[in-house]
Amino acid sequence: MSSELPIGVDIGGSGIKVAPVDLDKGALAGDRVRVATPTPATPAAIAAVVASAVAAIAGTGTVGLTMPSVVVDGVVKTASNIDASWIGTDAVSLFEKATSRRVAVVNDADAAGSAEMRYGAGRGHDGVVVLITLGTGIGSAVFFKGVLVPNTELGHLRLHHRDAEDWAAESVREREKLSWSEWAHRLSSYLGHLERLLYPELFVIGGGVSHKSDKFVPLLECTTPIEVAQLHNDAGIVGAAMVAPVEAT
Ligand code: BGC
Repeated sequence: MSSELPIGVDIGGSGIKVAPVDLDKGALAGDRVRVATPTPATPAAIAAVVASAVAAIAGTGTVGLTMPSVVVDGVVKTASNIDASWIGTDAVSLFEKATSRRVAVVNDADAAGSAEMRYGAGRGHDGVVVLITLGTGIGSAVFFKGVLVPNTELGHLRLHHRDAEDWAAESVREREKLSWSEWAHRLSSYLGHLERLLYPELFVIGGGVSHKSDKFVPLLECTTPIEVAQLHNDAGIVGAAMVAPVEAT
């Protein structure tokens, strides 16, 4: 096995975060590089930004990347909060060419959930665990006996006649200037819907706003226990690095 640390790349609607990751500790192993997501967020524009951010990290580790999209066998299938030209793009080929490294690409919430299951709030939970990321959109990752069901996309469930994420994402709280309690009321309704579908053992609340969990988590009303993501916004980077190809020597 290569001794090089894998690199995690978390591609979001507003920023792209890159760092080497220590998989023994489940933590960033060096400075995190953050660059703004280019507009429009086309495949070529993002690939160029990712290539220079990866080149700025010491070493030659392989790369795991997350996208805010359904990703099947490295191919992007949906684009809710990125440029529509991503649909059908072979993201693995694109980023391998751009970075000249071996890469793997997965859904952002699946990556964050995998990191929380291995290193954070999900540890030791063997039943159904549902991680929800609250940001520009709503991402989901569902586990049973620690095994991920990929690309669940529960942020797009219909709720109150629209996509749940168009009503309850963190970006909606900001845009509509909702109070914490108004937003918590919407989130409770959404979590209640998930409860009735999946009867989870645990909800894990992630995404950038998990740093402000004291403002809204105590206001949530639901039967399922709720834990806040322990890796907060680094969960995506760590989870990305977890899927980086393991190079043979
Ligand atoms: C996308 C998901 C993604 C989530 C969080 C949603 O709009 O459809 O794939 O996980 O946003 O970024």
